[in-house]
Amino acid sequence: MTEISVGGARIRLVQGDITRVPVDVIVNAANSELIGGGGVDGAIHRAGGPEIMLELNRIRPKHGCPTGGAVITGAGSLPARFVVHAVGPVWRGGGFQEALDLEAAYQKSLELAAGSGAATVSFPSISTGAYGYPAARAAGVALAAVAGFLKARGGTIREVVFVLFDEGTFKAYEKALSAIEPG
Ligand code: APR
Repeated sequence: MTEISVGGARIRLVQGDITRVPVDVIVNAANSELIGGGGVDGAIHRAGGPEIMLELNRIRPKHGCPTGGAVITGAGSLPARFVVHAVGPVWRGGGFQEALDLEAAYQKSLELAAGSGAATVSFPSISTGAYGYPAARAAGVALAAVAGFLKARGGTIREVVFVLFDEGTFKAYEKALSAIEPG
């Protein structure tokens, strides 16, 4: 399954590079320092250009962005209006409220996106690369968080697209999506 309707909106899964998919808001898997990095963070800063980091340097909270938090900037030369930089948890075995922190990162990102008036939002698989969160577990948390938000208070958001880089991650999300109740 690659698509469902929830709360009058749509959740869709695609395999690919998130910097190539036009949406209103692209969510980035950032770190607390908001200083850029590898993975999807590196790809977003490379494709968006230096403008995004210059803005982060202006708005960066003194002690960084906490795990489960997010900030919003412009999107530079990306095919989007804004980028939300979300900080997912580092996987430490599952007993350190990683699921709650991951859920919070998705919720905060959607609040910021809805606050910007976005109709379309894209997410990568937050925390499942360098941060080591097992993809199958992360997929369940991510999709439940997005579906819950869309059902309760989706606001302007009409479509959330997960852009999954590799086939294994895409398959994990496909499986997890079949467990989400449409409606
Ligand atoms: N488009 C979509 N997904 C991508 C892309 C891309 N261009 N590049 C990588 N990914 C995927 C990875 O394959 C992985 O499935 O994004 C997922 C998240 O992996 P990471 O980017 O490593 O993010 P995360 O696990 O949250 O770790 C965050 O990594 O790059 C640093 O600055 C970042 O320190 C932070 C940490």
